[in-house]
Amino acid sequence: MKQFSTLITELSEGILLITINREEKMNALNKAVIGDLDEMMEEVYANAEIKGVIITGKGAKSFVAGADIAEFQGMDKAAGMAMAKRGHAVFNKIEQCPKPVIAAVNGFALGGGCELAMACHLRIASENARFGQPEVNLGIIPGYGGTQRLTQLVGKGKALELLMTADMIDASCAEKLGLINKVVQTVELIEVSKVIIKKITSKAPFAIAKVIQSVYAHFKDGIDGFDTEIDLFGSCVATEDFKEGTLAFLEKRKATFNGK
Ligand code: COA
Repeated sequence: MKQFSTLITELSEGILLITINREEKMNALNKAVIGDLDEMMEEVYANAEIKGVIITGKGAKSFVAGADIAEFQGMDKAAGMAMAKRGHAVFNKIEQCPKPVIAAVNGFALGGGCELAMACHLRIASENARFGQPEVNLGIIPGYGGTQRLTQLVGKGKALELLMTADMIDASCAEKLGLINKVVQTVELIEVSKVIIKKITSKAPFAIAKVIQSVYAHFKDGIDGFDTEIDLFGSCVATEDFKEGTLAFLEKRKATFNGK
């Protein structure tokens, strides 16, 4: 597997742990990190050994404290749009990944960090995690999908509140809002994330990919999520895993899935 300068990667038992490695800058997303995440996701799609992904940040303090503010200097409108477009493309690649992706949020998830966590399929956070979209403090709005994904996760009223006040919220508040799935003790963050992702990767992989595709169809312009579900349900019924899963149930044994 390719090595990256801004990411630490460990593949074990089919689970790829990606750690964003800029601890001295609170793991802020500069161009290099975005580029490395993009390439890493390409490999996740292509490498059959990778069954699921966990993304976290290096150190005890920060998951990702946003886009790298130092790179904002001297930007004009076209550069701003290009930056946002690039971020959207990479985060969409994470969101549309047919393999499950969990954000293990180990501290500050601010701005682009909150957006990165929201682009993952599930979010597990340590007790010290803090979430927020503080962009208006800098005179901008979120540019990596935050206005859309936050609204999808917590609803319009709370999204507007968080986006306009730039307030930071703690993990238990984020859990109550539905922004994250679970809060765990800091020491067990990665272990719990692994247990959850292993549970998901033990299911029929084709069906998991279709769950992801079908749920996100709800949020795509011009696509009827109900029609998508009917179509994908049919696709699942045509798989070997469907035959195996139903037969295993009837034969009172554990199913062995092959992803076909
Ligand atoms: N971009 C670039 N550098 C960042 C950064 C970001 N988003 N967030 C933190 N850093 C850097 C700091 O500049 C500092 O670098 P230095 O040591 O070279 O001066 C280092 O990371 C440590 O951050 P610091 O602010 O000293 O730590 P703290 O514990 O006092 O505060 C935060 C932590 C996360 C609350 C604070 O860094 C912060 O508010 N960051 C910006 C968050 C933000 O606005 N994100 C949205 C960007 S669009």
